[in-house]
Amino acid sequence: MIARSFVVWSAIVGLALAAPAAGATVRSPAAVACLGDGRLVTANAAAGSVSLVDPERGFLAEIPVGPRPTAVAAGAGGLIAVSVREAGELVLLGVDGDRLVERARVAVGFEPWDVALSPDGTRAFLPLSAAGELAIVDLARGEVAARVAVGRLPRHVAVSPDGRTVAVACSEGAAIVLVDAASATVAHAAPFKGFNLGALAFAPDGATVYFAWTYDGGSHPSPGNIRRGWVTGSRLGKLTLAAEGEPVLAGLTLDVSGKAVGDVLGVAVAPDGSEVFVSAGGTHELLRFATADLPWTQISGLEVMDPRLAADAARFSRCDVGGRPLGLAVDARRQRVWIANALTDEVQAVALGRAADGPAVVAALPVAPAGTLDGQAALVRRGEAIFHDARRSLDQWYSCHTCHFEGGASTVTFDTRNDGSVGTYKTVLPLWGVAATGPWTWHGWQTDLAQSLEKSLVESMQGPQPTADDVAALGAYLESLAPPPSPFREPDGAAGMAAARGRELFASARAGCTSCHAGPYLTSAETYDVGLGKSADRYPTYSPPSLRAVYRKTRLLHHGKARSLADVLTRYHGPEKVSGEAPLSADEVADLVAYLETL
Ligand code: HEC
Ligand code: HEC
Repeated sequence: MIARSFVVWSAIVGLALAAPAAGATVRSPAAVACLGDGRLVTANAAAGSVSLVDPERGFLAEIPVGPRPTAVAAGAGGLIAVSVREAGELVLLGVDGDRLVERARVAVGFEPWDVALSPDGTRAFLPLSAAGELAIVDLARGEVAARVAVGRLPRHVAVSPDGRTVAVACSEGAAIVLVDAASATVAHAAPFKGFNLGALAFAPDGATVYFAWTYDGGSHPSPGNIRRGWVTGSRLGKLTLAAEGEPVLAGLTLDVSGKAVGDVLGVAVAPDGSEVFVSAGGTHELLRFATADLPWTQISGLEVMDPRLAADAARFSRCDVGGRPLGLAVDARRQRVWIANALTDEVQAVALGRAADGPAVVAALPVAPAGTLDGQAALVRRGEAIFHDARRSLDQWYSCHTCHFEGGASTVTFDTRNDGSVGTYKTVLPLWGVAATGPWTWHGWQTDLAQSLEKSLVESMQGPQPTADDVAALGAYLESLAPPPSPFREPDGAAGMAAARGRELFASARAGCTSCHAGPYLTSAETYDVGLGKSADRYPTYSPPSLRAVYRKTRLLHHGKARSLADVLTRYHGPEKVSGEAPLSADEVADLVAYLETL
């Protein structure tokens, strides 16, 4: 393993993190892992750090790892693997007494969203969201041994107990993809209709993979449609691997009629396989299911939860944990499920095994030294809570985040009827830098952002009227959201030759793009008719969307029919359509795409 100068790193940690108290910063743990000795490590997405927490003694140490660590896995011999999404790195840590030390870094690129370790601790598996690949890292050599194309937006990963199968959840063209670890090839892909696929967990027998995901009902958000589960829904999925024949998908609906579940993400299975736990960040709860005798259906599931299951505390219960529970980890020795709570900045524990009155939080430990947020930081945090709160929607089915995933776009289109038209499904607009990109909505008909936020809460969510303070907090949170840095750039921001040519072309009279896409967000305050409207449209013109982080989009243009940047430029939006120039050559398309990917 590559030895790194972790002594220097630790010295920096000491300086940076010694004095908390006033002006404290948020940590937002997205994931937790349990070490062999029972201590815990968390990946603190907002702080760019990893914390070490002792179940008895509480917070012990924190080490910076780079921007947006979103997953952490623990292996044999105290090995800790962290996927640092915005650095494009796998960071390996170890524990020295009560400290965390950095052991090595492996560049993998392209937004490693999650990480899992082989049971023997020799390899790490990372889904590279922006590349559509699974990276297999040889830990002894400290390098990527293989990259396997798995599909678009692979975000979560799990390894079977025997180490032979790696399961990956892809959010665009939703699918669970099984990769054969030895040959580094795709063994099977199980597609279904859904979005925002969450974590996966193998049952101990290795024959079952559970995963959390969101159902796309396709209907507009009217009260009746929401209540029937026709807009979105929360599901637990199950893929059963048979010794012979194809793996089989099944689904379980988690939404109880009148009291639904929002934004499922984490999944954990008890060591004996008898229970499965799901975290629901939107409804601030941990769901528990006894795996024997669950009413599995076809993958799309029922519209609402089977009422007999909903009423049967022995098979199903829900535990309010507050905040935003995300990643889960099981501590077999202490018989606990640990929860990374991104809004309370804690790890929380729930006991395994059915308690008479359902699961309850038995421990909650901060992942950082105590401190209070003040002023703007407190307002932003409050807005973050509103943005992720499904209880702001009718019967708590979904949050802003369900559609504006992590402040960005979605892989499905919605008919929010925002512009008063019917049946004009539109792609979700990302909200990074939204204060600077008015007028708002695809038609640009909204010129007051606060009003637009209020309308989102009352109409898209069919929720209660917000207070002016709520809207101000939500606005402050959105203003704090910066577009993610493009993984198509070098760490120092440099871009390749093709992107440089594309940049020149973009600004040239030949392509004519900058007459509508200019400034830091490559948009304009005007609206235009670029020939993509239809007769049902309420307004004839469209607002050029911001092109920052457009590499992340898998559905483009207002209708979402374009599936790639090349598709936009060749089929719908080339110079012949927008500026009266000749169509782009294949080389010009390649250069422009290379440039757009770096934005
Ligand atoms: C059901 C999915 C859905 C939900 C829930 C939702 N949105 Fe949206 N949002 C959309 C879609 C689709 C658009 C584009 C609509 C259009 O242009 O007609 C949009 C557009 C917006 C815009 C305009 C962005 C721009 O750049 O012009 C803002 C602001 C916004 N949403 C904020 C929110 C907030 C805040 C919430 C939560 C209170 C929320 N949305 C909930 C789907 C949703
Ligand atoms: C006349 C103004 C105008 C010009 C010129 C123009 N665009 Fe656009 N662009 C728009 C508008 C308006 C939209 C939204 C259209 C829609 O979806 O209906 C858009 C959408 C896009 C999108 C889709 C973004 C998304 O989030 O889905 C891309 C990419 C894009 N433009 C790139 C370009 C490039 C590259 C050029 C130069 C070849 C260009 N545009 C020239 C106005 C323009």
